[in-house]
Amino acid sequence: MAPTPIILRPYSEDDFEILRATLGVAEMTAYLGGPESEEKLRSRHARYVALPNTGHDAMFVILAGPQQQPAGTVGYWEHDYQGQPAWETGWAVLPGWQGQGIATQATLAAAALAHAQQRHRYFFAYPTVENLPSNAVCRKAGFELLGTSAYEYPKGNPITSNVWRLDLQALP
Ligand SMILES: CC(C)(COP(=O)(O)OP(=O)(O)OC[C@H]1O[C@@H](n2cnc3c(N)ncnc32)[C@H](O)[C@@H]1OP(=O)(O)O)[C@@H](O)C(=O)NCCC(=O)NCCS
Repeated sequence: MAPTPIILRPYSEDDFEILRATLGVAEMTAYLGGPESEEKLRSRHARYVALPNTGHDAMFVILAGPQQQPAGTVGYWEHDYQGQPAWETGWAVLPGWQGQGIATQATLAAAALAHAQQRHRYFFAYPTVENLPSNAVCRKAGFELLGTSAYEYPKGNPITSNVWRLDLQALP
């Protein structure tokens, strides 16, 4: 079956509901320390809306299907990997749209946009080892598995994550 077509558009003022439907619900945050409070979501929303004016980080809404409906989010932000500047990336796809290759395509589309900035060579992603769909996205998108890392996310919640790296220079 042909993959569901997607495009990315910058996250904007009108996108709070998609943020709430991803980081605000238990089902979507099972591997991310649980749903964020309304206050945290509101401050995250304000930060995302301001991103185009505040630096190089980027957040997008994924529009999927022929009607270009909001299906999730993908973004990247500056990150220090063992003293080297890089990008970290993250994604979320709403339950009704999962299993159609949307996160994989969206990650590669975001990687192409990051590559065009010519700022950092690598995308890093840190799904917890139990987050099988997210690890599958990394594998399918061509990330290389470097190992694991133990840390706290959110603070006070110990997790073990896989460390995945994508070389933006090697994108087709
Ligand atoms: C992770 C997530 C974005 C994946 O979105 P998606 O659009 O369904 O991803 P894709 O369709 O591109 O790929 C998902 C892959 O995971 C696989 N998968 C799904 N459930 C799985 C499971 N329980 N075990 C193993 N693989 C699984 C799918 O089969 C698919 O691989 P395939 O195409 O080879 O069949 C989505 O599940 C999500 O939003 N989860 C909650 C938020 C989250 O955890 N974000 C990641 C933070 S690091």
